Amino acid sequence: MNSSNDREGKGPGFSTRAVHAGQDPDPLTGAVVTPIHLATTFAQEAVGKHKGFDYGRTRNPTRVSLETTVASLEGAAHGFAFSSGMAAADAVLRLLTPGDHLVIPDDAYGGTYRLVSSIYAPSGVAFSPVKLQSPDALAAAWRDGTRLVWVETPSNPKLNIIDIEAVSAAAHDHGALCIVDNTFATPYLQQPLSLGADAVVHSSTKYLGGHSDVVGGLVATNDEDLARHLGFVQNSAGAVPSPFDCYLVQRGLKTLAVRLDRQCANAAVIAAYLVAHPAVEAVFYPGLEGHPGHELAAHQMRDFGAMVSFTLRGGEAAALEVAAAARLFTLAESLGAVESLIELPARMTHASTAGSELEVDPSLIRLSVGLETVDDLLEDLDRALDAPVS
Ligand SMILES: Cc1ncc(COP(=O)(O)O)c(C=O)c1O
Repeated sequence: MNSSNDREGKGPGFSTRAVHAGQDPDPLTGAVVTPIHLATTFAQEAVGKHKGFDYGRTRNPTRVSLETTVASLEGAAHGFAFSSGMAAADAVLRLLTPGDHLVIPDDAYGGTYRLVSSIYAPSGVAFSPVKLQSPDALAAAWRDGTRLVWVETPSNPKLNIIDIEAVSAAAHDHGALCIVDNTFATPYLQQPLSLGADAVVHSSTKYLGGHSDVVGGLVATNDEDLARHLGFVQNSAGAVPSPFDCYLVQRGLKTLAVRLDRQCANAAVIAAYLVAHPAVEAVFYPGLEGHPGHELAAHQMRDFGAMVSFTLRGGEAAALEVAAAARLFTLAESLGAVESLIELPARMTHASTAGSELEVDPSLIRLSVGLETVDDLLEDLDRALDAPVS
């Protein structure tokens, strides 16, 4: 199914909600774009008597509009916007108190690992990196104090696929919450709440914003206790996005489905090209039939995403050369925007995992496939892959 007909239930389809949910024309002016409300404070008729807004950190109309859109796209009752994906993750993890235990994937995003290992662990929250693709590994990880399982699927950077339904059910059996970082898939490709997850976390810096011009984070949930916690942390810790940043993420969301349709199609072509290239050792892309999570991805995702990772026969030295030789694929951190990016996770996005159980193969190259003409992307890879000496 493509974005022109993405209605699945009775209500409006995904793309209709992306353009309209929380975005009624402005009642004062009729403006069809949600205004960027810069006011930090709001007039009160009498003490405590106001129009739903009193102070900008607590609640801002542009932010509420974005939160409403995202909640609608994730099938959630509540959405919360934060100043970055890490601030969003941190808001969820503040549920944990000393003595609690947390399960994270053994190939989590480096920043998530750093947050858990360098901030939460020293304050008494234990954690276990677990191969979440393996039910046995998860079964062995439970402890009395396990309160939360953190899932990333597809994972960053190995593109492993985790069974959200199975992990959520196991978490609930053990009295724990299942939180899914849906950054790589986006709500267009995957709906974790409908599969049993308790909350969805995003780096909206990536596909949701989609244009490499805003850093942000979002959380969506149907759980009332979790929503109370998130609203409290959002206001109390104050890691809120600016109204302008909210506007940029909301603008990005309007084209999410069409961007992803094209990006997924480009990624599938690139993955097939890499599989056939003699210099390439292994390709990690859930759309490939040989990928261990292919069938699960086909079941729980609308499409296979636009991230592709691979290793070269020439190892790290060859990977460094390819990364430097690529032109149209910009050598840069981040992902999910209109332009294609190339990076070496071990030295860049996942450097904080060095020496840990999550350490990334230094020869792994990660591509974020953008919207460019796919033949131009292939030509760029051809040139870059010819460049290495090995
Ligand atoms: C999967 C994933 N989650 C969370 C984050 C953190 O997001 P941010 O950089 O917006 O803080 C990233 C950033 O790369 C990511 O890739």
